[in-house]
Amino acid sequence: MHFESPKITIALDGFAACGKSTLARDLCSALNYSFIDTGAMYRAVTYCILQMGLDLDADQHWGGILQSLPLEWRVADGLFRIGLDREDIEDKIRSMAVSARVSEVAAISAVRTFLVHQQQMLGRSGGVVLDGRDIGTVVFPDAELKIFVTADTEVRVQRRYQELKTKGVSIEIGEVRHNLEHRDHIDSTREDSPLQAAPDALWLDTSRLDRERQLQIALTVARTLLDKKGMKPSHSSVVP
Ligand code: DC
Repeated sequence: MHFESPKITIALDGFAACGKSTLARDLCSALNYSFIDTGAMYRAVTYCILQMGLDLDADQHWGGILQSLPLEWRVADGLFRIGLDREDIEDKIRSMAVSARVSEVAAISAVRTFLVHQQQMLGRSGGVVLDGRDIGTVVFPDAELKIFVTADTEVRVQRRYQELKTKGVSIEIGEVRHNLEHRDHIDSTREDSPLQAAPDALWLDTSRLDRERQLQIALTVARTLLDKKGMKPSHSSVVP
């Protein structure tokens, strides 16, 4: 009897700068899974909208605009890459100008419908870790493992501030705090799929956990689920 290697879908949701993407990348390396950074997709769309000078408050033909954006996302060697007209825009989408407006863009229902569909296509084969705000509730409500990541606000502010400083960005810590609080507020109070923990999510407070410990906890749960899944041979792989 042949056992197919089981693959699960892992959803990481939570407020900004909780350490979701670091944990997602670490999990992907450990499990040989692909990372889908859904926040980067909202950031890329925001970058394009700002470049085009579109008014977010005006009635726009969002469906047509989104379809026409020359954006491409793909998973290559487990890494998530975003390109605009074949140019790598990773640095551009992390700018404060984009961070300041991304939550407003992410509150537009047409943008969410468009990106949720793309995310479901990217992750449909499983063996993926997605980080975002609505993964366990909307994008993959049937994900086998859902983790709601939290951390104290001050810890998050310090982490994001250090990260920006390491990248050479000149910024006041107060601006970082304002941006995180502002985004958290919009993300959790918007009408369309606000940030909230799925009822079956496991909560992980990373305030006092280092990177290794966070990975260890998440991996233990993931491997327990994989062991359970591995007990069942898939129908197609049973040799009579
Ligand atoms: O993960 P991030 O901080 O890079 O995400 C940027 C913004 O995108 C975040 O403030 C809210 C939005 N977002 C969302 O609404 N839904 C997701 N699944 C991911 C991000």
